[in-house]
Amino acid sequence: MTTEALSRAVAHYDSLPAGMRWHVRIRRWLSRLEDVEALVPKNGNILEIGSGHGLVSLYLAHASEGRHILGLDIDAAKVEAAQKVGDIGGRVEFRVGDALELPDAVFDAIVIVDVLYLMDEAAQAAVLKAAKKLLRPGGKLVWKAQDQSPAWKYLLTKAQEWITTTIGLTAGRSLTFLPRERALELLRDAGFRDATAHPMPRRLYTDVIFTGLA
Ligand SMILES: C[S@@+](CC[C@H](N)C(=O)[O-])C[C@H]1O[C@@H](n2cnc3c(N)ncnc32)[C@H](O)[C@@H]1O
Repeated sequence: MTTEALSRAVAHYDSLPAGMRWHVRIRRWLSRLEDVEALVPKNGNILEIGSGHGLVSLYLAHASEGRHILGLDIDAAKVEAAQKVGDIGGRVEFRVGDALELPDAVFDAIVIVDVLYLMDEAAQAAVLKAAKKLLRPGGKLVWKAQDQSPAWKYLLTKAQEWITTTIGLTAGRSLTFLPRERALELLRDAGFRDATAHPMPRRLYTDVIFTGLA
C-alpha cells in the first residue's frame, strides 16, 4: 500500500524533463522513504522542511488522505517543479523558504529528510529548536539523517553527498553529519521528549531516522 502510494507520487513527475524525472526516481530508490512514512502521523497539518522537488510531501499525501502538507525548500527551481506537478486536491502546497526562517504556524508533525547535514551543527540545533516551537504539544518530529558509523558506510555517504553538493545538484551551506548520540542530544536540548533513533539496517549508507515529541 505505501509502496503503491510512492509509485503514485513518482508518477507526478512523468511530464518533467528527463533530468528531474530521474533525480526523483533515484531518490525513491536510494532513500527507503517507506521507513519515514511509517513514522509520520496519518492525519493533520504537516510541515516538510527541505522538500526539494516535493517527492516526500507527495508521497505522504498519497499514503494518507488525512494529511495536509506544506513543503518548504530554499531552492526556487526545485520548488517551481514541485508546484508544477504537486496538486493533490489542495492537500499539498510548496513554497520557497529557508529552514532557518520558518513560517509562524502550528503543525501536528514536522518532517525533515536528508536536509540538516547541509548546515553546520549550530544551524541544525537552531532548526530543531524552531521546529519544536512550531509543533503543537504532543506533535511529532520525524528527521532522517546520517550517522558517522560504521566507518566504511560513512565514507560512502560523505563521498556521495560531497559530489551532489559540489556539482550543484543539492544546495547547502555545509556538510555536517552528526554522530547518533550528538543528534539525540540536540533533540533533547531543543526540548523534544522521547528522542529516539530508528536504525535503517541493510543500507549502503549510515541512514538513521530520529523522532521526538513536542
Ligand atoms: C538531498 S535533498 C532532499 C530533498 C527531499 N527532502 C527529499 O528527500 O527528496 C536536500 C534539500 O535540502 C534543501 N535545503 C538545503 N538547505 C536548506 C535550507 N537552509 N532551507 C531549506 N531547504 C534547504 C536543498 O535545496 C535540497 O532540496
